[in-house]
Amino acid sequence: MSGAVVVAVDGPAASGKSTLAKKLAAALGLAFLDTGLLYRAVGKRLLDAGIDPSCERAALEAVAALQPEEVEAERLAGERIGEAASKVAAIPSVRAALLPWQRRFARTPPGAVLAGRDVGTVVCPDAELKIFVTASLEERARRRFEELRRRGEAPMFAAVLDELRERDRRDTERAVAPLRVADDAWVLDTTELDAEAAFAAALRRAKAVFARCAVTGPTGPDRNP
Ligand code: C5P
Repeated sequence: MSGAVVVAVDGPAASGKSTLAKKLAAALGLAFLDTGLLYRAVGKRLLDAGIDPSCERAALEAVAALQPEEVEAERLAGERIGEAASKVAAIPSVRAALLPWQRRFARTPPGAVLAGRDVGTVVCPDAELKIFVTASLEERARRRFEELRRRGEAPMFAAVLDELRERDRRDTERAVAPLRVADDAWVLDTTELDAEAAFAAALRRAKAVFARCAVTGPTGPDRNP
């Protein structure tokens, strides 16, 4: 290992992966990166400029101009920006341009928890732990619906459900880095779990994996008989 441990937390929209990943990072003493915010920040730049988020040239210019202070959850919330993000995220050159930064962040000691769609499959395929967080479409829509109501909006459940279904479709069917479960990922289905129970299960898993790494991992005694 490079002196850094990486936990990849992937999953569909509104699965609770970012909340879980953030708490996991705090509990494990690791840095946290919500990689979706990078795509959201690029999407927002294009929306603000009135440019179609599918325009490759403009999206690449937006990546090059991106400032760290723009990558901030509060200003990037909302379905409109999420949808723009999923459009820029389908452009291969945009994904490629954002890769080195994510990898550097992940491997900076002591390591990091990264949440996203392709962390375990593309960004950090060698992550020490990969968790795929999921929940049924209806349950994710219900959580998103409640979240919007808490924010004072008046959403229609059917519309929230349709938007999520469309985002799932775009994220899983795109040609480059589609959302999929890495072969060696641990799948955490939170349909029947609240946030606390999901976090407790993930933390147990992380502790078990890292205890095993310390004994038999790449730097452990088994590699140097
Ligand atoms: O996770 P979040 O909903 O904020 O992500 C917004 C969009 O960014 C997703 O719908 C997805 O298309 C894209 N994304 C991605 N790869 C990641 C993180 C997010 O393609 N690692």
